[in-house]
Amino acid sequence: MKVKIIITLMLGLSLGLYGQETKITILASEDAPKISRHIYGHFAEHLGRSIYDGLYVGDTSSIPNKDGVRTDIIKALKEIKIPNLRWPGGCFADTYQWKDGIGPLEERPTMVNSWWGGVTEDNSFGTHNFLNLCEELGAEPFISANVGSGTVEDFIDWLQYTNHPKGSPMAKLRKENGREEPWDVKFWGIGNEMWGCGGNMTAEYYANIYKQYATFMTSWENENDLYRIAAGASGGDYHWTEVLMREVPKSLIEAVGLHHYAVIDWENKGSATGYDEEIYFRSMEEALKMEEFVTKHSQVMEKYDPDNEIDLVVDEWGGWYDVEEGTNPGFLYQQNTMRDAMIAGATLNIFNNHSERVKMANIAQTVNVLQAVVLTEGEQMILTPTYHVFKMYTVHHDAQLLPVDFDSPKYTFEGESLPAISVSASKNEAGNTNISLVNIDASEEHIVEIDLEGLDINDLEANILESEKIQDHNTFENPNKIKIKEFEDFKLKNGKLEVSLPPFSVVVISSK
Ligand code: AHR
Repeated sequence: MKVKIIITLMLGLSLGLYGQETKITILASEDAPKISRHIYGHFAEHLGRSIYDGLYVGDTSSIPNKDGVRTDIIKALKEIKIPNLRWPGGCFADTYQWKDGIGPLEERPTMVNSWWGGVTEDNSFGTHNFLNLCEELGAEPFISANVGSGTVEDFIDWLQYTNHPKGSPMAKLRKENGREEPWDVKFWGIGNEMWGCGGNMTAEYYANIYKQYATFMTSWENENDLYRIAAGASGGDYHWTEVLMREVPKSLIEAVGLHHYAVIDWENKGSATGYDEEIYFRSMEEALKMEEFVTKHSQVMEKYDPDNEIDLVVDEWGGWYDVEEGTNPGFLYQQNTMRDAMIAGATLNIFNNHSERVKMANIAQTVNVLQAVVLTEGEQMILTPTYHVFKMYTVHHDAQLLPVDFDSPKYTFEGESLPAISVSASKNEAGNTNISLVNIDASEEHIVEIDLEGLDINDLEANILESEKIQDHNTFENPNKIKIKEFEDFKLKNGKLEVSLPPFSVVVISSK
């Protein structure tokens, strides 16, 4: 039976918007899906200073570390309750020979990281490092395995190495390398971007290859343990999803991927920090396309899978700009401003609201690459505005979605407009309601009036992420310029909650 509680949120627009009123309705229903915590997943590729000189400094480093991984990063990631970590790529994944990354360090072969700067990969960070790190973080590992330049045999050997309990050749090798128990890796990506760096394949060709790999994947403990993710489409390539859904039997697949980056122009991505409002507007326009992509890919999936057995996994997303001046163009190191906080807040709201089909996502990337949550320089580490959004949104992890229905007021720039407000809401196991609101408008404050009648909420607390300028960011000299602050600009009276959302801000309101 569907129990509906209707919460009406009135976006009482400022007088400047001609007194029009925008209503938001939140429908709480027992049928609503849970927001999978895996939507808040991360991604660490062997790319630039993501692993080496980022996460991993080696156990002889003077920088405090646990088995070579920086303890400040471990602490930071635990604080945002990182649910899963995707590795080793990205494009790198389809060049990676996992056997080169196990065994005595001095015997490990080197390779050229052909996608990212042509640097030498010494394979000092390998399978054991990654899987032990995931254990330390309490995160599920998500291995994106080599299909483009690998073999089925290599692939299933890797699976046997990580998951087989004992008595097999790979379990024996694992034990010789110091690990008795299997790690039981559940999440496996079957290649990456197979339409591009994974091998420039057609969807039809990849569907066959996918079936071949998936057929030989065995989970020894429990047949249903493995979660196989087909390398997905880029942006609006619905044909790709259609072919996979049509050609791959349900017994061989648990999820289909999707990648979308907020890039204004691939030839001229623009500076991460030095941008004007026009560029900001364009970035947000690109980021908000996620709503359309997720909706339309879900519709294609619905056609072949009306019972919702196959998930959509957005295993790469985020803002992508020009690299910081003086850094290696192949290393994709960029700063992270309030624009990125807007991209993160709005995108995560989209995923929450599509929890029916979207069960997992991975921001690109965790450390020192693209829309990173932490940046490092020598001994120092800073938290980015994106990090703070992930922290504020931890309240949604595994909570029951409260679906929203509303028409947003507009954010208008030179005659063009975008929805200014994005909202998602959930109720956690303890019965607390959490509402995340993002106002991407670069100059207008928007007033939100939330009708809380029927929810029996009397006591609320709220946090905000805001700053003076949209270009503001944290630096190694000023690491706390942008941080989460307590927010008090709301009034609760007779079951109605009025909130003033400052320009380009993220607010999370929670019942106590
Ligand atoms: O995240 C950087 C790169 O972007 C990944 O390696 C690739 O999958 C995508 O094109």
